[in-house]
Amino acid sequence: MKAGIIGAGYVGLVTAACFASRGLDIMVHDTSKEKIATLNAGGLPIFEPGLEKLLTGHTISFTNCVKELVETCRYIFLCVGTPQGADGEADLSYLQSAVEAICHYTEADKYIIIKSTVPPGTARRMEELSRSLNKNCKLTFISNPEFLRQGSAVHDFLYPDRIIVGSDKPLSGEEVLSLYEKWDCPKLLMSRESAELAKYAANSFLAMKISYSNMIASLADRAGASIDDIQAAIGSDSRIGKDFLKAGAGFGGSCFPKDLNAMLHIGRKHGTELPLIENTLALNENQPAAVVSKIKAALKELTDKRIAILGLSFKPMTDDVRCSPAVSVAEHLLNEGAKVILYDPLVRHNPVHRAAKGASLKESLKQSDAAVIMTDWPEFRQLLQPDMLNTLKRKIIIDGRNMFRIEEIEMLSKEVSMYYASIGRPLHDSLTAKSV
Ligand code: UDX
Repeated sequence: MKAGIIGAGYVGLVTAACFASRGLDIMVHDTSKEKIATLNAGGLPIFEPGLEKLLTGHTISFTNCVKELVETCRYIFLCVGTPQGADGEADLSYLQSAVEAICHYTEADKYIIIKSTVPPGTARRMEELSRSLNKNCKLTFISNPEFLRQGSAVHDFLYPDRIIVGSDKPLSGEEVLSLYEKWDCPKLLMSRESAELAKYAANSFLAMKISYSNMIASLADRAGASIDDIQAAIGSDSRIGKDFLKAGAGFGGSCFPKDLNAMLHIGRKHGTELPLIENTLALNENQPAAVVSKIKAALKELTDKRIAILGLSFKPMTDDVRCSPAVSVAEHLLNEGAKVILYDPLVRHNPVHRAAKGASLKESLKQSDAAVIMTDWPEFRQLLQPDMLNTLKRKIIIDGRNMFRIEEIEMLSKEVSMYYASIGRPLHDSLTAKSV
């Protein structure tokens, strides 16, 4: 039995590779000829650790022909993008096109399983659309949201905390769940609307934890407390949990900002205010400015200062710069007259055209008045070596990701006189001395 995947983006390819590795026969479709040609030639259109090995180790076919996929597969996963549209609303045009194409080629009894993040009511509406396009259409629409993180998506797919299947008929839900028989985790069957909303609720909650920590960090800064200690104290309460409490420059990426904006739109549509989500986004939008104010406190005047931004992606192990706080900080600094040099171990292009791009960490630090860590790439730990730190013209580090432990910085400051500031962690006066 073949399962089809529509959309060869990161969700689609991870889904394909992981199902294939557990014995399912998989066919992947994408409208992009270029993507399918790359995949057929053994290449990968995206960077995701572990994916290449899984894709090459198993038989998966790739096609531009949706007819071929629809005719051969009983289970069809929709993994197309649902980007942010007007007024924050999720743009369902790719999803709708896929459904229209599927209905065109089949009247057989098949399952359309929506993995894309979609507002509650979408599976039901797509089922209605399929019936209106072809009255003999027997497609059953299921919601099966994914909770994959970029950078660990393969692991997240193979070892999830739970699998959610939303269906309006329990038997259909059970049948789709049987595709996951080799997965050993809680499996939750619910209505399609609940499954669809659960995805937004999960992402919003995680984002809210981050904004909460950032809010407490800004209070800790002024109250002389440390967010590290507070995180340990509250995170060890099992009701709160320690994950997603790391304070820093804020959350970015293709999911959290988009999904929270979509959630606000869903709220407006249903006449429900969602103040926690509104404030989560508002706090996050202010985090780059909080980093810039730390840079200003260190340098006083930004005009003509050369500032190295270390890390461009929204988090390590990805080259994705969508909604990355690093880009906002760079733009803020340029607007205030600073010269900005960008360095990232993986991002090849320059997402901030007015800034220069450094070829290496060392080259970016040379002649710079400050280094600002915006992504906690392991490579930046080299700054703890006095030789590397001494490459900077002025030994000023603004750690927008709290990547260094305070003890490490204290040790280093015994060898090199330096200035260090991070988020929510007040320091001894010796570390913020202005004579660097
Ligand atoms: C997220 C969700 O985790 C995933 O379940 C969903 O399917 C897609 O969205 P992703 O966007 O890949 O995944 O990244 P994630 O690891 O969740 O990080 C998101 C952002 O939050 C990053 O910018 C990261 O730096 C930031 N973050 C994360 C923090 O600032 N503090 C934390 O404690 C955790």
